[in-house]
Amino acid sequence: MPDSATLLGIETSCDETAAAVVRADADGTVVLSSVIASQNELHEEYRGVVPEIASRAHAERLLPVVRQALTEAGVSMGDISAVAVGNRPGLIGCLLVGVSGAKALAWSLDVPLVGIDHVQAHLYAACLNTSWDAGEIQPARRVPAPRFPAIGLVVSGGHTSLFRCDSPTRMMRLGSTIDDAVGEAYDKAAAILGLGFPGGPQVDRLAQRGNPDAVRLPVSLLDSDSLDFSFSGLKTALLYAARGVPAHPSRAARSGDAHALAVPATGASAQDLAASFQHAAVRALIVKVRRAIERHPDCHTLLIGGGVSANSLLRARLDELGRQTIAPGRRIDVRIPEMQYCLDNAAMIAGLAWHILRERGGTGDDLSLSASPRGDLATV
Ligand code: KG4
Ligand code: ZN
Repeated sequence: MPDSATLLGIETSCDETAAAVVRADADGTVVLSSVIASQNELHEEYRGVVPEIASRAHAERLLPVVRQALTEAGVSMGDISAVAVGNRPGLIGCLLVGVSGAKALAWSLDVPLVGIDHVQAHLYAACLNTSWDAGEIQPARRVPAPRFPAIGLVVSGGHTSLFRCDSPTRMMRLGSTIDDAVGEAYDKAAAILGLGFPGGPQVDRLAQRGNPDAVRLPVSLLDSDSLDFSFSGLKTALLYAARGVPAHPSRAARSGDAHALAVPATGASAQDLAASFQHAAVRALIVKVRRAIERHPDCHTLLIGGGVSANSLLRARLDELGRQTIAPGRRIDVRIPEMQYCLDNAAMIAGLAWHILRERGGTGDDLSLSASPRGDLATV
C-alpha cells in the first residue's frame, strides 16, 4: 500500500451527479476538486426526485463531470491511483450508473475500485481539507484529524441517524428516524408553505425572518431514553396550522361542505410558520444529540453530515454545543462540514475510500461490486 494516493470519487445515489479528486497521505485527505451537477431544475415541477429522470441525467452527465473534476484538480487519468464510488444506499437506477462508470474507469486504468456507503461518507465530509493552493498540500493549513470515538449525526433528505463512530470506517447506528427523514420533512414543509424544491434551503431562509414562538409545534422525543427520531407528526402539525384541521367526514357531509374545518388555520404568516417548524425540527435533533453524548462519555467529538447540516439554525445550535462544558472537564469538538460538503458530493466518497483502502492493505473490491438500495451499517 503506497503512502499517498490520488483518488477519483464518483457519487450518483440520488439527484446530484458528482465527481471529485482527493489527494491522501498519512496526515489525511485534501480535496483538489469537487464538481457537482445538480438536477434540481429537472425535478422541481414534481416537487421530488423522479428516479428514472435522475438516472438518465446521471448517464448523460457523468463523464463530463469526471472530466471537469480532473481538469480542475490539474491531474490526468494516468495520475489516478484508485476509483471510489457510492454504491449504497440510494436509488438503485441512479447508483447503477455511477457503479458502472466507476468499474469501467478502474478496469481501464488498472487501479483499485472501492464501493462506499453514502451515509458513512456523509460523516467523513467533516474530516475533509480543501486545497487552497492549486493542488499543493500545505500541512500547516490542515484541520487536525478528529479524535475517535465520536458521535455522528447524519441529517439528509433520505436519512436521519445517530451513530457511534470508532474510526472513520467503523460505526454502529444508535438510532434513526422511524418515519420521515428531517430533510424530507423540510421538503414537505416547503410544499405546505408554497415554496419550491428542494425546500430545505428555502424554509431555512424564510424562517430567519419569522417568529419561532408564533405557533406551538410538537417536538417529538419518543421515549425518554430513545435515540430515534420522528418528524411526520411535526409535518402534519404544520399542515394543520397552515390550512386548519379537517372536520370528521361525517360532520363535513352533514354540513354539505366537503372542506369543512374542525379547527381553523392559525392565520400565522408563512415566515412565522417556517420559523416555528425550524425551531421544533432542530430542537428534536439537538435533544437526541445531547442524549447520545451523555450516554457515550468516552466520545469527545461530534461529526455532522448530510444536506440538513447546511441549516443555519442547526449550525448555530451545534456551535453553541461546542462552546459548552458538557460535564466537568468535558468539551465536545463539533465538526460541521464546509458548506460545499454538506450536500451530496464525491469528495466525501473519495476521502473515505482512502481509509478503507489502507485498512485493506490497498486491495479494492472486485468488478462484481453491486449497487444496493439499502445500506448495511449495523445497529446497536
Ligand atoms: O445529503 P443530501 O444532499 O441528499 C440526501 O442524501 O438526501 O440532502 C438533501 C436534503 C434535502 O431534503 C434538502 O431540502 C435538505 O437536505 N437541505 C436543507 C438545507 N439545505 C439542504 N434542509 C434544511 N436547511 C437547509 N439549509
Ligand atoms: Zn446524501
